[in-house]
Amino acid sequence: MPLTRKAYRAAILHSLADPAEVGIEASYEYFEDGLLVIENGRISALGHAGDLLPRLPADIDITHYQDALITPGLIDTHIHLPQTGMVGAYGEQLLDWLNTYTFPCESQFADKAHAEEVADVFIKELLRNGTTTALVFGSVHPQSVNAFFEAAEKLDLRMIAGKVMMDRNAPDYLTDTAESSYQQSKALIERWHGKGRLHYAVTPRFAPTSTPEQLALAGQLLGEYPDLYMQTHISENKQEIEWVKALFPERDGYLDVYDHYKLLGERSVFAHGVHLCDEECARLAETGSAVAFCPTSNLFLGSGLFNLPMAEKHKLNVGLGTDVGGGTSFSLLQTLNEAYKVMQLQGARLSPFKSLYLATLGGARALRLEDRIGTLQPGTDADFIVLDYNATPLLSYRLKQANNIAETLFVLMTLGDDRTVLQTYAAGNRVHQR
Ligand code: GUN
Ligand code: ZN
Repeated sequence: MPLTRKAYRAAILHSLADPAEVGIEASYEYFEDGLLVIENGRISALGHAGDLLPRLPADIDITHYQDALITPGLIDTHIHLPQTGMVGAYGEQLLDWLNTYTFPCESQFADKAHAEEVADVFIKELLRNGTTTALVFGSVHPQSVNAFFEAAEKLDLRMIAGKVMMDRNAPDYLTDTAESSYQQSKALIERWHGKGRLHYAVTPRFAPTSTPEQLALAGQLLGEYPDLYMQTHISENKQEIEWVKALFPERDGYLDVYDHYKLLGERSVFAHGVHLCDEECARLAETGSAVAFCPTSNLFLGSGLFNLPMAEKHKLNVGLGTDVGGGTSFSLLQTLNEAYKVMQLQGARLSPFKSLYLATLGGARALRLEDRIGTLQPGTDADFIVLDYNATPLLSYRLKQANNIAETLFVLMTLGDDRTVLQTYAAGNRVHQR
């Protein structure tokens, strides 16, 4: 195969570590005039343009961006594909919101053509927002996941998804059974898990909508295949937590339900965790599990404020999630804007470099993919984005007053959204152009 080598010159920024562990200065690498070299879908070099250019062939194809910042592609650790059509649904908190809006919307995915149409809209929206990897909930219908993976495979995206398992406390038109959910998940795993850059996630919706038999089979699946993911919801809403206690009186709280059914582990991602206690954070950390912090959703559904400092204290892996359609934006930049305010309301700060970490390397670590995505280290997948400093008149004007990369980054996260993403690259291919 002929070598395809390309280079991209711009300001370049990526995370190296969690600022909570190494301090802010050691947590990132910034090249004011940087060069990113891509060979066959992977990053082959990163450095100062002045250092790298003399070592490259004179005829190499270089794209030079002025007034732009290259960062790794963003990573969304919690989002629902079949809720694309109901973002911004008025008035309810979690349990009523599910019954009033979510379940009827998800029921439309019984129709394969509908699933294909929405998968297309959903993937375009991810890429328009600079999200190159997402951990995705399908609906209860296997075709929702087939449609998503078929579309993701065409673009060679690194994506993780699973069919919802849900066999009680939901309308009949939207439930499976313990046995059918096991068989359908197994068939999807056989077809998709490890194909190209795709991975499968066993997806019990949340404890209230699964029987003990279904949760046991979810745990069994995790034992049957290597490197499977598990995604579910936890401790998002106070009524939800009381309901779980009533449904599982023999268990010692919400997390213990999942623990009992062997659903914790290094590839397990629990969405929300707004009301987790110290012991639960410790147990999640001990098992290598991760939490998806979903600030726009937690605010929109009135769920509460995620305690990031507590998670940091326990060295718990945390990624960022939009949680569309409970969340109100596909943009992880806008999600960081809200995350900052959630910290402010708790008397804490979210530094721009911690924000960058959460949306990139932190998400990659939550998904155990840090050797492939989340940074611009040579050898990793060429998934990166180009952020445009002149995306809007206000952004352009405001960034002219910024004195350093910390300020620039913070303003990008506060004023930025899909308009800020000029281009998105996956495996070295341009998959979005604004
Ligand atoms: N808990 C169970 N299902 C859902 C869902 O679809 N969205 C959110 N935000 N929480 C849930
Ligand atoms: Zn969710």
